[in-house]
Amino acid sequence: MQIKSAVFNMSARNLEACPDWNRPEFAFIGRSNVGKSSMINMLTNKDGLAKVSATPGKTQLLNFFVINEAWSLVDLPGYGYAKVAKSEKINFNESVGDYIEQRENLRLVFVLIDSRLPPQPIDLDFITWLAGCAAPFALVFTKADKQSVGKTQACISNFIASVSEFLSEAPPVIISSSKTRDGRVEILKSIEQHLRD
Ligand code: GTP
Ligand code: MG
Repeated sequence: MQIKSAVFNMSARNLEACPDWNRPEFAFIGRSNVGKSSMINMLTNKDGLAKVSATPGKTQLLNFFVINEAWSLVDLPGYGYAKVAKSEKINFNESVGDYIEQRENLRLVFVLIDSRLPPQPIDLDFITWLAGCAAPFALVFTKADKQSVGKTQACISNFIASVSEFLSEAPPVIISSSKTRDGRVEILKSIEQHLRD
């Protein structure tokens, strides 16, 4: 699939403020700093379209980008970021929860996982919650450029073993890097497939 145009449309602070349209939406979620905004820029070939920052917590609103005037990529605020952690409970924006649970336009959620880390409880907790929602999801292992292929594969095997304890079916897995552009074709293919369904 070709990306012919990619335009920022709006930021929403909650579900009610999301755009009133019938475009299919593909959302990116994951821990703060995992690379969600960078991935949107890589997919659209537009540096700076989504705001990237080395400081976690950059994306605070639900940001909608219109692609090919037909469908939308949604950059969601990251989970697990709290300046004052009140508890060890997973901290994710209430609007993100409402969006994923209730947004009818949502076709697929890409859950971004740092490919360098052993399974993080916060990611496992999030996926446990997500599995109870209707939206289908795929796992995208990010920043693969930062280590060897062997190490990435070992991390993914570990992660899949952890999620298979509570998921009845293994989710699709994509390896990505916003630096080398690995995973771009696979992500766009899965979007294309869900646009057709
Ligand atoms: P929040 O909006 O804070 O939730 O973060 P985010 O998930 O949108 O992450 P963002 O795209 O802002 O990237 C965070 C940092 O990681 C930035 O310094 C990026 O340059 C860097 N980064 C993102 N993706 C990659 C990647 O694939 N490879 C490398 N080497 N660095 C990356
Ligand atoms: Mg971001």
